[in-house]
Order: sequence, then structure tokens, then C-alpha cells
Amino acid sequence: MADNSQMDRLVSLAKRRGFVFQSSEIYGGVGSVWDYGPLGVELKKNLKERWWRSMVHERDDIEGLDAAILMHPRVWEASGHVAGFTDPMVDCRTCKARFRADQLDQMQCPQKPSKTPGEADQCDLTEPRMFNLMFKTFMGPVEDDAAVVYLRPETAQGIYVNYLNVMQSSRQKIPFGIAQIGKAFRNEITPGNFIFRTREFEQMEMQYFVAPGDDDRWFEQWRELRMQWHVDLGIASDKLRFHQHADDELAHYAKVAFDIEYEFAFGWQEFEGIHNRTDFDLSRHQEYSGKRLDYMDPVSKERFTPYIIETSLGADRLALVVLSDAYREEQIKGEQRVVLGLNPAIAPIKVGIFPLVRKDGMPEFAHRIHDDVRGRFPTFYDDGGSIGRRYRRQDEAGTPYGVTVDGQTLEDETVTVRHRDTLAQDRVHADQLVSFLAEKLVG
Ligand code: GAP
Repeated sequence: MADNSQMDRLVSLAKRRGFVFQSSEIYGGVGSVWDYGPLGVELKKNLKERWWRSMVHERDDIEGLDAAILMHPRVWEASGHVAGFTDPMVDCRTCKARFRADQLDQMQCPQKPSKTPGEADQCDLTEPRMFNLMFKTFMGPVEDDAAVVYLRPETAQGIYVNYLNVMQSSRQKIPFGIAQIGKAFRNEITPGNFIFRTREFEQMEMQYFVAPGDDDRWFEQWRELRMQWHVDLGIASDKLRFHQHADDELAHYAKVAFDIEYEFAFGWQEFEGIHNRTDFDLSRHQEYSGKRLDYMDPVSKERFTPYIIETSLGADRLALVVLSDAYREEQIKGEQRVVLGLNPAIAPIKVGIFPLVRKDGMPEFAHRIHDDVRGRFPTFYDDGGSIGRRYRRQDEAGTPYGVTVDGQTLEDETVTVRHRDTLAQDRVHADQLVSFLAEKLVG
């Protein structure tokens, strides 16, 4: 059952602490486009780096790529997006709202929120019309048809059209993969749920090229690896599950597809897709470009068009998963605290540094420590307000450690290290602080 208030509290924290802001807020905002603030940009960067490390740096069989957003318009004809990347849309003639015809059961009538659109007496829905989700724009100064280009709706196609370039330049052999992180754009009819469904978003996609016949085996491997990656990130495993696409849910390119779903406050929803795309994409690009994209096995001398196993993860949806999973409200000694229990590896700030008071040499000592620690970890220096309030702010930011300079520091140069989750406190000599934190944060 959807818990809107929990979502509202998360959205409010995200704004208050500088994770996510509504885009163009001073103009009233723009529909389902969001900006990442100082903490949000760090969180998302940490997630992307973790993904990149596991895909590209820690494997010999995957190469990285950063392809352009704008591509030749024929790419989207070949991929099937011009003809088929559509959603059925209906309008309500009474309230003028617009809905996805295939998701009416998940929506609320704006005038009677207890009913779905079409259910209340006053609803008057049009017949469904198909609506292409790709954003169109024009290349060059003349807005004629020849110059139409699209903002890519998935990053995958940039990988397919470069697969030979990458394979040849990096001397890879099948099986091998190409990973990419980048923006994608979809003119969603009913975006919403904060950063869950937006019109501009980032994808982290990996396309793994295999011999036909090997595809089922590789699909299973990638399905397991991807689920394990999320568990290793620290996401509660009882909030993760697979959903296999039934035949009528499969995208036009897929033979088999599994979603990895998370139980958000608004219900179970997909945040990563694992797809067996067969040889659909390379065959189509071969046909539309007239260029050979097949592969000759160097041992068997057999020629084939590779099959592709795709893992496609939304960076924004992953950010929403980790924020949702980390958000906690707790009672501590009769006081409520909100805390983001983020995995320290992805927390935007690792260490908060606080002089207990702004006098007696404490700020000077705290600045010295700050200079030592910031060279190693992202830190935040805060001397504003009571120490309790400063702890609370860092709890909300998900900062795993707080270092306090107090009266005892001036006597023996030790500081207090407070642990966000347990609230345990250690007394550590300032000279040992960086190595103490390194042991906790790096292991
Ligand atoms: N290349 C395959 C592909 O794009 P998809 O299931 O349409 O497959 C993959 O998208 C992932 O991209 C989703 O699981 C989600 O995390 C993210 N995504 C898709 N549409 C999105 C949107 N409108 N807003 C935010 N993330 C989105």
C-alpha cells in the first residue's frame, strides 16, 4: 500500500539537506525534472563510480564508452524506437488530466482520489492514442524534416553502433562487454514519484556480447551478479526481488527480461532491467547501415551476429532506492531523530568536524583536524548552533562519523568520534584520527 507521507518526508529531507531540488523552482518548476544539490551530486557520483569500478575496472572483459547523446536519426529507425517506443495515452475531458491508458489502475482520479481515472461518475476519458516518448529536436538552423534528431531514450544504442570500434581498438574477443553511463530522455506521459520517473535521467548500462547459444547461460550469470551487487551495496534484501516479464510485457527487442524491483513507499517497482536482446539490435543496424556487424570466431572460423545481454540501471532510481532504504525515524532519549543510514562508501560526507564551542582555541584545533582529514575524505566543518543540532544535521545528511573537539582535547589532544548508527563514542588522539577513520571507512 502506498505511503505518500513517508515519501513526502523523504522529499522534504532531500530538499532541506541539499540532495535534490525541483528544476527551475523559482519559475514554478518544470514537470518531473530534478536538480541534484551539493549532497545529491556526491551521492550520485559515488553510486556511478561504484558501478563503473565493478563493471570496468575490476573486470578484463568489459570496456568503457561515452557516446554522444545526439545520434544519426536512422539509429532510432533501426532500433525500433521511431515505430514502437510509444505509450497509449488518454485524456479526461472533464478534468483535462492525461494518463497512460495501460496504467490507469495505478493512478488516482485528480477529482476523486479514491477512484482510478474513468471510475468516477464525472470522468470522461478519450479513446487511447499512441504517443512516441522520444524528444525531437533539430540539428542546424533550418527546422525541416531532414534535420530532425532525437535525444536518446536509452544509452544502449551508442554502444551498439560502436561495438566494432571498441572491440577492435581494445582487442577484445567475444564474449565481452561495453559499459556506459549517460543521460537519457523520455517524454513520459505520467512521470512522478519524485526522481523515480523523470523526463531527463541517467542510465548505467552494460551490453555483453555473446555467441548465440551461450546467451541463456550469460543471462543467468548477469541476473545473479546484478542482484548481488545491490545486496553488497547494503540494500535490505527483503526489499529486493526479481520480476520476470510476461510475454505481453516484453520490449520489442527482448527474448527474456527480468526486472530487479525495490519495495518503495509507493509499492514494488523496477529500478534495473536485465534483458536478453538476442541479435535484434546488431542485425537491425547491419540492415539499416549496410555495414557488416557480424563476428568471426577466431578458433572455429564460424561467423555469427552476436547476441546481447543487457543490464540497465537508472542512476536516479538507484539514488531513490538508497535514500528510501537508508531513511529512518528514531526516538533517542525521548527526542526524535531522522537519520540516513547510508553505506559509508556512498555517503556524500564521510566525517563531520565540530568544535564544541566557538572559543578557548577549539575552532583553531578543529580547523587543524579538518585540514588533516579533508585530504583523505570528504568532510564538513560545522560550528553553528548546539552540538546536538549539528549532530542531527549530519545524521540527516547520512554522515557516518562526527569528530568533536572539546575541553579534554585542549588537555590531551584527543577528540571524540561519534558513530552515526550506534551513537557509540570513541576517544582518539588527533594524530591517530586519519588512520582510525581510514580503518573504518576503507577497511
Ligand atoms: N536499454 C534498456 C532500457 O532502457 P528500460 O527498462 O526502459 O530499459 C532501464 O530502462 C532503467 O532505466 C530502468 O530500470 C530505470 O532504472 C531507468 N529509467 C527508465 N525510464 C526512466 C525514467 N523515466 N526516469 C528515471 N529512470 C528511468
